Amino acid sequence: MPLAVLAPGGAASTALYIVAFSLFIIGIKRGTHPTTAKQGNLIAAVGMGVAVITTLLLDGIGNWGVLFGALIVGSAIGVVASVRVQMTDMPQMVALYNGVGGGAVALIAWAEFRHELSLGETIPLDLLIPGLLSAVVGSVSFWGSNIAFGKLQGIIPGQPIKVFGQQVINALLLVGVIAACVILAINNDAPSEWVFIGVLIASAILGVLVVLPIGGADMPVVISLLNAFTGLAAASAGFALDNVALIVAGTIVGSSGTILTLEMATAMNRSVGHILFAGFGGAPAASQGSTEERPVTSVNAQDAAIKMAYADSVVIVPGYGMAVAQAQHSVKEMADELEKRGVTVDYAIHPVAGRMPGHMNVLLAEADVPYEKLKEMEEINPEMPRTDVALIIGANDVTNPAAKNDPDSPIAGMPIIEVDQAQQVIVIKRSLSPGFAGIDNDLFYAENTSMLFDDAKQAAADIAAEVQNL
Ligand code: TAP
Repeated sequence: MPLAVLAPGGAASTALYIVAFSLFIIGIKRGTHPTTAKQGNLIAAVGMGVAVITTLLLDGIGNWGVLFGALIVGSAIGVVASVRVQMTDMPQMVALYNGVGGGAVALIAWAEFRHELSLGETIPLDLLIPGLLSAVVGSVSFWGSNIAFGKLQGIIPGQPIKVFGQQVINALLLVGVIAACVILAINNDAPSEWVFIGVLIASAILGVLVVLPIGGADMPVVISLLNAFTGLAAASAGFALDNVALIVAGTIVGSSGTILTLEMATAMNRSVGHILFAGFGGAPAASQGSTEERPVTSVNAQDAAIKMAYADSVVIVPGYGMAVAQAQHSVKEMADELEKRGVTVDYAIHPVAGRMPGHMNVLLAEADVPYEKLKEMEEINPEMPRTDVALIIGANDVTNPAAKNDPDSPIAGMPIIEVDQAQQVIVIKRSLSPGFAGIDNDLFYAENTSMLFDDAKQAAADIAAEVQNL
């Protein structure tokens, strides 16, 4: 039995939707700073609550058993997943959630198509065209995101997987999907549901084939792009359903996803086209560069503690390894000990350190590192020649001087934290293994570099203890 309190498109429902997406925008704005990010999340969640309740109160909404059943199951999965997921697994969680959004939009488009068919009348093109766009983009996004999830979770190999004639197959699929949509639009007085299902299936195959050849490590950029697609599909569904909240929320997701994608690509000095079509970014199978044994200077925690305790300035460069080791609290304790001795400690944050945007900022904020201490790459690089010790904790590619010095390097041109300019460099990692890009790092063999081979958390805790005992 429908509650039918609000008329769709009426003044009350529109006003409530405006409240909802105002909260989304305030939430996003607050999310841009670590100190207000949690609050921002909460505000956006309240906005989503308002949007959901408003929609449930619309005239024509019923079938409460199914609706509440879905709400309960969905909420339970969401709560359990968010409590259990590790920070390092966050990119795959985002991929899954994004995929679910795309899939939901594609299913809504299909349901709406069936509803219009059941009326037995000509489907107006201003409903049919946005509906088809939602179906295509939603289906591409759902299947593409699931492949991205599989790669990041290790269910599907991270290396680029290529099928013979892939680009041609993709082009044919795209042409086929567009042709089928045109056929449906031309025959809008009696469109075939089978052709619609064909569109969904072909889009699904396209989503799979576009993402399979992309290396696992490029997945965060791909997920961000698919996220933008999902937003676009949702906005389009909003036009088909005449739902203003869906239009606005979809547009926010679409535009913010696009900006994020471009920012990440810029920070890796690669174009989005190169990421999508070059088949780079596979799991580091073989290390490129010199394979001959080269001598490195190895130190222990006590040596590292002495070097830093007697320095004026230390810049900590965190990377993916700090996240894997969950070393952020030990790192903060170590920095506290150094500061007690009058050492100035700052953190250099590379925009793509780790495996997702803001990865390092979130971890360090969790360990209560003051936000003013986190310096962006552009801000810290000019300080490097005046820095006594650059301490690299589980970072690799983002410090690799090959990006500047070797035009043939896969990361050539990628901006880096210029630790090689510091007076002394200490690198904490477990071995000489390459990072995500699968390439050797000349920094490890430099004269002013000392390697501390250990797990990041253990090493930071040991250094803290040593500094305390000095
Ligand atoms: P990486 O270059 O991937 O290097 C991480 C290093 O951490 C590894 O060399 C590894 O060496 C070390 N490590 C792993 N576990 C450790 C542990 N428990 N303790 C100590 N060290 C550990 O990381 P990065 O410098 O942060 O660079 C990020 C890379 O990801 C870039 O190439 C970037 O382009 C790419 N990427 C990032 C993003 C975003 S948005 N962040 C998106 C796409 C791609 P050992 O095995 O020897 O310990």
